[in-house]
Amino acid sequence: MTALQHIPTPPCVQPGAPSPVSSTGRTLRWGVVATGNIAERVTEDIARLEDAVLQAVSSRRQGTAEDFAARFGFARSYYDEDGIPGYDRLFADPDVDVVYIASPHAQHYPIARRALEAGKHVLCEKSLTINAREAEDLIELARSRNLFLMEAVWTRFLPCVNRIWELIAAGELGDINWVQADLGFPAPYDPASRLWDPAAGGGALLDLTVYPLTFALGALGYPETVHAVGSINPDGVDAQNALTLGYASGGLAQLTSSLVSASPRTAVISGTKGWLRTGSPLHNPVELTIVPQTGESRVERFPQVGNGYAYELREATRCIQSGLVESPTMTWADSLRTMRLFDAVRAQIGVLYSNDKASVPR
Ligand SMILES: NC(=O)c1ccc[n+]([C@@H]2O[C@H](COP(=O)([O-])OP(=O)(O)OC[C@H]3O[C@@H](n4cnc5c(N)ncnc54)[C@H](OP(=O)(O)O)[C@@H]3O)[C@@H](O)[C@H]2O)c1
Repeated sequence: MTALQHIPTPPCVQPGAPSPVSSTGRTLRWGVVATGNIAERVTEDIARLEDAVLQAVSSRRQGTAEDFAARFGFARSYYDEDGIPGYDRLFADPDVDVVYIASPHAQHYPIARRALEAGKHVLCEKSLTINAREAEDLIELARSRNLFLMEAVWTRFLPCVNRIWELIAAGELGDINWVQADLGFPAPYDPASRLWDPAAGGGALLDLTVYPLTFALGALGYPETVHAVGSINPDGVDAQNALTLGYASGGLAQLTSSLVSASPRTAVISGTKGWLRTGSPLHNPVELTIVPQTGESRVERFPQVGNGYAYELREATRCIQSGLVESPTMTWADSLRTMRLFDAVRAQIGVLYSNDKASVPR
């Protein structure tokens, strides 16, 4: 890594690092909040870690909590009862060290806040919160309680993605001037789905844009300017958005995210000496095509471990075991800057969520 690298390479993908699932000799007991799509995929990877214990899961309903616990082998399950949310019951469990929160976006803040108040370390799905105000509050709480808090942007921890930063730092692409990244898939309109529900923080920005953005951030850093265009549906969420990020260096990034169009789902990073393209999907690439201005193109391939989440889980484990409250690869400052950027985008495209109107405790 050089001082120029915008996203530091985590130890789990540095040369000679052991497999991310191998044991550190000290176990960490995990609690999982929610039993939806991503909770399943990440739980499969927690189960692969040799030093992780699936301690407890919480769901709103007894049946889903118990089914999920039985399927994956959690020791305990919690659910909403007598007016007490299942997650609060889980946070009261002294045998849980760290919680992974996989609720819809609008519930990240209130649930993560309760977890930190209960003294739990937190790995929370992206986007960390609905807005920067909520992110700031969570960060201050984690700081004051000396607890680990990380937004689960797993893409930052993947070997293939870190290889891009290495190639840039080595000067293979020359000076980086331009990034183009897209993530689109057609999600059938369903007002009950969190993807479309404004009350859940629906829309392409909070669900998808964090991934194309990762490539702009890694190659060029945070931008000076953002110009955004959005297709806002009658419910007030962005079905798709296009962002142009501007940099003092003259660099530009063009990012598109869509819930209504299939897209290549790749990132292209271009410099004075050549360009590269990630394999698809860009949030979990295992292949890079590198095209120098002069000379032969080449393809580099990378292994995938489990579903791809083991690397971020390894980093969370490492940080917690070594007393770090934030990961140097996914810092609090980056989560906050991302939420500020998203706030600016939403102001431009006209997306307002109910969380924006709610007060945040101080
Ligand atoms: N890292 C990734 O690759 C990835 C991929 C997809 C999504 N995500 C992120 O993961 C999060 C969840 O996405 P998903 O696709 O898993 O959504 P999902 O399938 O809709 O699952 C969300 C779960 O949250 C719980 N939930 C729903 N409404 C809730 C509410 N009002 N209050 C509290 N809990 C509620 C439900 O679990 P119970 O019924 O058990 O309570 C539900 O199954 C989002 O932040 C999303 O951006 C990340």
